[in-house]
Amino acid sequence: MKTQVAIIGGGPSGLLLSQLLYTQGIDSIVLERKTKDYVLGRIRAGVLEQGLVQMMEEAGCADRMKAEGFPHDGTEISYGDEIFRIDFAELTGTPVMVYGQTEVTRDLYEAREKSGGQIECNVEDVVIHDAKSDAPFVTFTQDGQERRIDCDYIAGCDGFHGVSRKTIPETVRKEYEKVYPFGWLGVLSETPPVNHELIYANSDRGFALCSMRNENLSRYYIQCPISDDPNNWSDEAFWEELKRRIPSDVAAKLVTGPLIEKSIAPLRSFVCEPMQYGRLFLCGDAAHIVPPTGAKGLNTAASDVYYLYHALTAFYKSGSSDGIEGYSAKALARVWKAERFSWWFSSLMHQYPDQTVFDHKMQIAELEFLRSNRAAQKAMAENYVGLPY
Ligand code: FAD
Ligand code: DHB
Repeated sequence: MKTQVAIIGGGPSGLLLSQLLYTQGIDSIVLERKTKDYVLGRIRAGVLEQGLVQMMEEAGCADRMKAEGFPHDGTEISYGDEIFRIDFAELTGTPVMVYGQTEVTRDLYEAREKSGGQIECNVEDVVIHDAKSDAPFVTFTQDGQERRIDCDYIAGCDGFHGVSRKTIPETVRKEYEKVYPFGWLGVLSETPPVNHELIYANSDRGFALCSMRNENLSRYYIQCPISDDPNNWSDEAFWEELKRRIPSDVAAKLVTGPLIEKSIAPLRSFVCEPMQYGRLFLCGDAAHIVPPTGAKGLNTAASDVYYLYHALTAFYKSGSSDGIEGYSAKALARVWKAERFSWWFSSLMHQYPDQTVFDHKMQIAELEFLRSNRAAQKAMAENYVGLPY
């Protein structure tokens, strides 16, 4: 096979890039290791920055998001029984969109299929060849057959465990990592959300987050030991623990019900430098991971897609390779800021196993400063709604 851009990974980064390139008449083939149903069964992020919303519009995939998504003008932050609001609209003029990653991915798959896009699912043994040459190619197996794609460029959108990052030789690649000593137990329940906006809760029993997907689908998370097993948590035990971590007047309003999904995710900060090796470009989780506090994972993947899409468009439309040459530096500048925000918000909101009473007092002092100081609120809000591309 032959294409202009071979895209490895059919998650949100790969599909969005493919659909945006299509709008510019640039051809791509997406290679995905799993089935479409598997990809659409993953429940992940829920809050979209305006930049991603705009790219979905540009990609012609925003109709359902506009009809079914919920713009949020602020978020609540609690500590013990105290609660305050960060008003995104007033502080930044920008809302965020509550719309699940699963739905974003479904809309992108549909759009790609409608426009005749080529997505090869169930591929195995993907190998990137000659990334440093002018004639790179990708090989893989599908239904037992060996196949090959010749291309101009390769986008590595294959997530944290993909092959793309590892293609960059260890002599070139630098990796920076922080693993947090806890995880998040996340659940879904077909109950109305406890609050019309998200609540991020610092409690002395650990962090909790009250989020949602729609009027009758709630998404809740609680901090848990990383060694924990979701099967150790009965529905009742989960609801009891959540109630103890949020303000009591909020807990009194919580509607509980059967949990339809329960899983534990580890928390990690990770950055790979550079994000580019010859004609291979890394996008999204393939290059970086943030802890989920602040919802920057999917949104930072989207900003990489933005830079790469514009770089490739400039190259194919006007022959300019400035964007392509500058991709890694440009993407990384924004990535590190998202890493900082996610690390800061995680550090502020969780209980650490080795935390002293003094450390907890520092968190409370910082939360009280944030509650009362407009400059601090503005900095928080600007980061939460998304820094400019
Ligand atoms: P991915 O979504 O990982 O997509 C990569 C794709 O590449 C996958 O479909 C994978 O099957 C495919 N692939 C992998 N290897 C290969 C290969 N060798 N060949 C071909 N295809 C391959 N972010 C938040 O903001 N909030 C959250 O609550 C949140 N929860 C999360 C929970 C979990 C369990 C995980 C893993 C992530 C979560 N994230 C969350 C992060 C967010 O979901 C990611 O940042 C986002 O999915 C990144 O998109 P991506 O397309 O770069 O990578
Ligand atoms: C969700 C996840 C997050 O990590 C976050 O900060 C906000 C919302 C969610 O899944 O709804």
